[in-house]
Amino acid sequence: MRVLVTGATGSVGRHVVAGLLAAGVHVRVVTRRPEAAEFASGVEVVKGDLDAPEALESAFEGVDGLYLFVAGKTASVLDQAKRAGVTRVVLLSSMSVGFDDDQIGESHRVAEEAVEDSGLEWTHLRPGMFASNLLEWASSIRAEGVVREPYGSAAQTAIHEVDIAEVAVAALLTDRHVGAVLALTGPEAQTKVAQTATIGAAICKEIRFEELAPEQWKADVEDEVPGWVADWLLGIWAGATEVPETPTSTVEDVLGKPARTLAEWATDHADDFR
Ligand SMILES: NC(=O)c1ccc[n+]([C@@H]2O[C@H](COP(=O)([O-])OP(=O)(O)OC[C@H]3O[C@@H](n4cnc5c(N)ncnc54)[C@H](OP(=O)(O)O)[C@@H]3O)[C@@H](O)[C@H]2O)c1
Repeated sequence: MRVLVTGATGSVGRHVVAGLLAAGVHVRVVTRRPEAAEFASGVEVVKGDLDAPEALESAFEGVDGLYLFVAGKTASVLDQAKRAGVTRVVLLSSMSVGFDDDQIGESHRVAEEAVEDSGLEWTHLRPGMFASNLLEWASSIRAEGVVREPYGSAAQTAIHEVDIAEVAVAALLTDRHVGAVLALTGPEAQTKVAQTATIGAAICKEIRFEELAPEQWKADVEDEVPGWVADWLLGIWAGATEVPETPTSTVEDVLGKPARTLAEWATDHADDFR
């Protein structure tokens, strides 16, 4: 069996590659910059862009399964895949598909519809907040031992990227999840203040959480985060302050073992915060 992994240099995709290799599957990856990407030996690397699917024809040759990242022209990518003989697609979607009037959710919803219309066997992965978003805190933790953000009491169910990847591999390699929409979260909701303490415990360092006003944070990150994305995040955090997110049992249901905790994630990433 051969699987094509898109988004393979991404936080989840790189673990999808590792999981497939460990299962003895032939892995081919698509990246826009093969020269910058490092993959294990045996991985076939193809230069390609999901924005230019017409050039992906050779990437799909001999491929059975596809791990698909939402970018570019999803419907055309799926068309190429189907014509080349791919039979199954696992889509990295987002929990935001279920949110009302949500721009990010909408782009993932469109991708989900394209997948469902493709005629391929499909599984949608709908993760909530990635624990890896907390890497945004690494530089201020390293430099000053502080996290500066609004909504310290926002309680979110951060998920370890390896859990998402392991679910993706299960959906690619077994028939059990065909046609399933899998809502994926970490095992518990933790406030940002508690997340800060969890990272502190992993690196044996006291870290302060400094509460910022939402407008102050938005101004501080304006060079890195587009205004509409900042507003989107502020809306999510405000909501999770009023009503803590609810964890799902999907990771455990699929993998037969509990979802990794944020403490495990922080230990795995301790070097990023030291
Ligand atoms: N962060 C969250 O909390 C969260 C929650 C739910 C869902 N999600 C969804 O998860 C996804 C992010 O996943 P991730 O963290 O694994 O990725 P990531 O670390 O953000 O990496 C981006 C990946 O996408 C690939 N990519 C981007 N545009 C591409 C294009 N036009 N053609 C080919 N490849 C392209 C990049 O490949 P190259 O640069 O190698 O070409 C890279 O591998 C997004 O769709 C996001 O909406 C995120």
